[in-house]
Formats: sequence, C-alpha cells, structure tokens
Amino acid sequence: MTDHMPDDLSAAGRDIRAFTEELRPLHGVVRNDHGEWVLLRHELVVQAALSDDRFSSAVSSHLQIPNGMDSTEHTAYRAALDCFLTPEALAPFRERFRQVAADLIASLPRGVAVDAVSQLGTRFAVRAQSAWLGWPTDLEDRLVDWVAENHAATRSGDSAWTRRVAELFDDLILSVLNPRREKREDDADDVTAQLMRTKVNGRLLTEAEIVSVLRNWTGGDLGSVAQCVGVLVHYLAKHSTVQDHLRSGVPDAELDAIINEILRIDDPFVSNRRVTTCPVTIGGVALPAGARVKLNWTSANRDEAVFCEPDAMDPERNADQNLVYGIGRHACPGRTLATLEMRIVVQELLAATSSVALDPQQPAERATSPIGGWAKVAVLVS
Ligand code: HEM
Repeated sequence: MTDHMPDDLSAAGRDIRAFTEELRPLHGVVRNDHGEWVLLRHELVVQAALSDDRFSSAVSSHLQIPNGMDSTEHTAYRAALDCFLTPEALAPFRERFRQVAADLIASLPRGVAVDAVSQLGTRFAVRAQSAWLGWPTDLEDRLVDWVAENHAATRSGDSAWTRRVAELFDDLILSVLNPRREKREDDADDVTAQLMRTKVNGRLLTEAEIVSVLRNWTGGDLGSVAQCVGVLVHYLAKHSTVQDHLRSGVPDAELDAIINEILRIDDPFVSNRRVTTCPVTIGGVALPAGARVKLNWTSANRDEAVFCEPDAMDPERNADQNLVYGIGRHACPGRTLATLEMRIVVQELLAATSSVALDPQQPAERATSPIGGWAKVAVLVS
C-alpha cells in the first residue's frame, strides 16, 4: 500500500508546520495535490539528499546554477563559485553588515509595533546583500517589492506568474550588469565584478550563467534570510529566558548554535525538489523513474524519531542532525554568509534595545504553504 496524503487534505493556505506535524507520525511519504511525493521524515530526507545519483536536482528546464545541476557538472560550478562564500572572502564585509544592521535598527520606530519580517528581516537582507554584491543602494525598493511579489507568486501556485516574477528579476540583474559591460570597466573589484571574471572549465561564465548564479544567491540571501530573521525575532520575543541569556553576552559560536537550533525548531526554508532517475523504493513507497519528489526540511527537522522533543532547545544535542542548511552535494554554500548576517542582526537588535516583546494587540501571522516561517511578527522594541 502506498502512503497517500488523504484526498481531502490540501496544504494550500495552511501553516505548513502544523500540517506536516499531523501527517508525519502517520506517513513517511505523502503525495501532494501537485502529484509530488513529499518526504516528511528525517531518515528519508537524508537518504534522498545523499543519493543524488537516484534523486536528481535537474528538476527545471531553466538554467539553475548550481541548484539544478548534477554530478561532475555540479562539482565544476561549485568549485568555481564556493570561493565567494568562504569565511575569508566574507570577513571584509562584517563591519559593513554591522553598520547596515545598526542604522536600520536605530531607524525603527519606538512605542509602536514593528514588523520583524518586512521592516527588519527584508530590509536588512536587501541592504546587506547589496553591500556584499556591490549593487547600488537605489535598487532597494525594487528588490523589496520583488521579494514580496515572489512570495505572492509562490503562494499562488500560478506558474505563469512565477515565470514572470523570475523574468522581472532577470531584468533587475541586467540593469546592474549592462552598465558595467557598456563602460567596459574591469577595474571594479566588488563581488559582482569578480563573478563577471569567473571562469568555469577554462572559459568565462556567459551572461545567462551570471544571471542564474545571482538569481540563486539572491533567492537564498533575500528570501531565506528575511524569513529566518522573522523566526528568530519571534522566538526571542516569546522566550524571554533565551533573550535574557543572549543579552548577557555569549560568544559568537554559542550564538550561532542557538540561532541554528531556533531555525531547526521552526525552519522557514521548507523544501527542495528532486526527480528520480530510476525506479526507487523509499520509506516503503515504490516510485517510478521521473517521479517528482520534495525533501521537506521543515518536517524532517522536527521528526520525533530524531529529536525526542522537537520544541526543546538543545543546540549541543541536535546540531549533528540539524538539516536547516541541507545535507550532501547540494548543502547550502551560503551558510557562512547567512550565519554571519543573522548573528549580526540579532546582536545589533539586542544591543540597541532593552526589550523585544510580541505586540499583544497583533498576534503574529503564520506564512502559509509553500512559504514557511511567519508572514508578520509585530513586536514592540524599547
Ligand atoms: C538562512 C538562510 C538560508 C537557508 C535556511 C538556506 C538553506 C538551504 C538549503 C536547505 C539548501 C539545500 C538545497 C538542496 O539540497 O536542494 C540550500 C542550497 C543553496 N543555497 Fe542556501 N540557505 C540560506 C541562505 C543562503 C544564502 C545567503 C545563499 C547565497 C548567497 C544561499 C545560496 C544557496 C545556493 C546557491 C544553494 C544551491 C546549492 C547547490 O545546489 O549546490 N543560501 N540552501
């Protein structure tokens, strides 16, 4: 018997975490209303992520570097691109990110509610990313609007809208790249300029490849960091003992571990897709070749079989099993950047305030499937 998601259940419009919580104890694998096989348990998600020969990432007809690539092609592009995201490459940006966070937090109104997702997470992610890539600050509002429309299109499930939003983003990136090319400037030395000089397999990246890389970096940086900041602020506002502990001053490594554990408990980066290259049996379910599969990180990160009490904060015990940044060949190359940005925004928020509390008048609103985390977290900062 195959484990089917019951026909009368659809994730559409629901809080994805509550939804998978009901299903996971009953089913390791469910079929969603798009015909995709969703892996809900930790063991199965890890199994598929590590079997990248049978679970291919070539899920789209669009160029997706390196996300949509497999095997040696993927290895070559990661080898050329990962150097942008090492601790050494990112160290020079630390103080810029700190300044971005401090200025933004100083500008937040006091005495009225602030939305931690749109006013803090998205704004910080956009400004920090532009500082990293060397993009003009006047792109900020276009990028913020794009993040909002991208979320709306994703939520709608309307593939034509999602395609249009992707094209909108390509236009935005080209508005950065084209003037650089026209001026034939090769003396600029920001990350975008370095990317334009990057070679893979002995040749320069094409324009389409550069756009694809920037789209995937931006997808990780803007969308994910903004959602993660919403989850972190919500957690700290709700758990005053953890907030007080962090206010007492903890080493960076401890703060990073606590951030990773909060994101495990409430992982807003919900899932990634795969397609089977051959018939595969997983979790007792026989899938044909060409089956569309989803690795649900949010659900796996709360699997009772691995994390006895999924809501208990235990960074040391859970670190090795934490799947927030994935596992295997496609594990997130942006982890160091994301960790740095989130550490800085939390440190600056706590340094500039004596209290961050949920607004009792405006309960936080969950994002709905397929987006994870929170749509809105109204907090009072003082
Ligand atoms: C807190 C924020 C982030 C989270 C939770 C996150 C999570 C993940 C996860 C789970 C994967 C695995 C995808 C898979 O197996 O198919 C991934 C891949 C990826 N992430 Fe992140 N990410 C974050 C931030 C970033 C940032 C800041 C960047 C870059 C600037 C980035 C760039 C990428 C790219 C390019 C991939 C694809 C890697 C590949 O296919 O080899 N991410 N991310």
